[in-house]
Amino acid sequence: MLTEEQNRILTQVGPGTPGGQLLRRYWHPILITRELTPENPVKHLRILGEDLVIYLDKSNQVGLLADRCPHRGASLLYGRVEKRGLSCAYHGWLMDCAGKVLEAPAEQKDSIARNVKTTAYPVQEFMGFYWAYMGPAPAPAIPRYDIFMRKDGRHKIVAYPRLDCNWFVTAENGVDSTHLQLLHQEPPGAKFKPADSTRGYIDDIEASDYYKNDIGIMKRRTYHGGTVDEHPFIFPLMLRTRGSIWMRTPIDDEHTNHWVVEFRQGDPSPEIAVEYLAPFKHPPDAVHPQAVFEKFPKHGWPLSEDVVMWETQGRIADRTKENLGGADKGVVLLRRIMFEEIERVQRGEDPLGVIRDPDQVIDTNFDASLTMVYPTGHVAQTVPV
Ligand code: FES
Ligand SMILES: [Fe+2]
Repeated sequence: MLTEEQNRILTQVGPGTPGGQLLRRYWHPILITRELTPENPVKHLRILGEDLVIYLDKSNQVGLLADRCPHRGASLLYGRVEKRGLSCAYHGWLMDCAGKVLEAPAEQKDSIARNVKTTAYPVQEFMGFYWAYMGPAPAPAIPRYDIFMRKDGRHKIVAYPRLDCNWFVTAENGVDSTHLQLLHQEPPGAKFKPADSTRGYIDDIEASDYYKNDIGIMKRRTYHGGTVDEHPFIFPLMLRTRGSIWMRTPIDDEHTNHWVVEFRQGDPSPEIAVEYLAPFKHPPDAVHPQAVFEKFPKHGWPLSEDVVMWETQGRIADRTKENLGGADKGVVLLRRIMFEEIERVQRGEDPLGVIRDPDQVIDTNFDASLTMVYPTGHVAQTVPV
């Protein structure tokens, strides 16, 4: 159980908040690159509680600026892209991707405007996404996780419907091993069922262990009979699973983006396919209890079941009323690491998992030789990644 103050620290993402300052030390995927085109060159994005616009100018430069024009606050979403940047539709103030005002056409002397600088964040393209860094300079590197760097197959992005909840429940879910045998006990179309649906397949698990490593938390499940499976949670937002990496980007305290990058070995191609999943709930903008969730949609299981659990915990889960047990030790460890890493940021240090070397390929410690048994007794289709 946490205090209200502790819960705020874990969940707030805005500028100046302790959690927001931690999250601003990492690069975040913010948009699938193919969504920004010369035909649609400006998009509004809300990231870490900040209203921004991303644009592609006529020199093919990509910029990420505060949505609010520094002149009198009109939205730059309706601006015009030019060769040198983005020009506000209202009075034409032209800004480059560093946020510098280059021109203020209505001014006799535009020296006033030239001393103004709007908020601008660096953007890089990687793995089919634009990524943004919204923290203090110098920016670190976007981590080259091993699965991103594979050349012997194909990557694909699966874009999930927006989550109408705070990001931290998704992180807690990533260090919550035991829900696999309970929540996900009935794969769609399965020809088997657990003998007792309350216990699911949990009695096949001998131990669930969690330990901190140099990128986050390793989860290790040991089954009766000695089979072991492991997969790593990459602090603070990602989850590495067999054949994929799950990525989350907080929109604001109550909404989160969720993307999965999959990799399949064979038939190499540098092209990255994109699949957009239909909403798992109806109406798509409603929240519990007005929304009706689909636990078993055509695409997106088992995450669709996780989404029900995340969103029904509330837009921001109230951790002052919970009753944690021994099986929540991964959640307890994650929260402890969050508080420790927030303190490191406050001391001016790099938090866990920040990478400074752009050429370093990060070993996610995913041991493909370990067999994932899912649900227990039924070996999952495996791919060696
Ligand atoms: S409000 Fe943007 S140029 Fe005036
Ligand atoms: Fe799950």
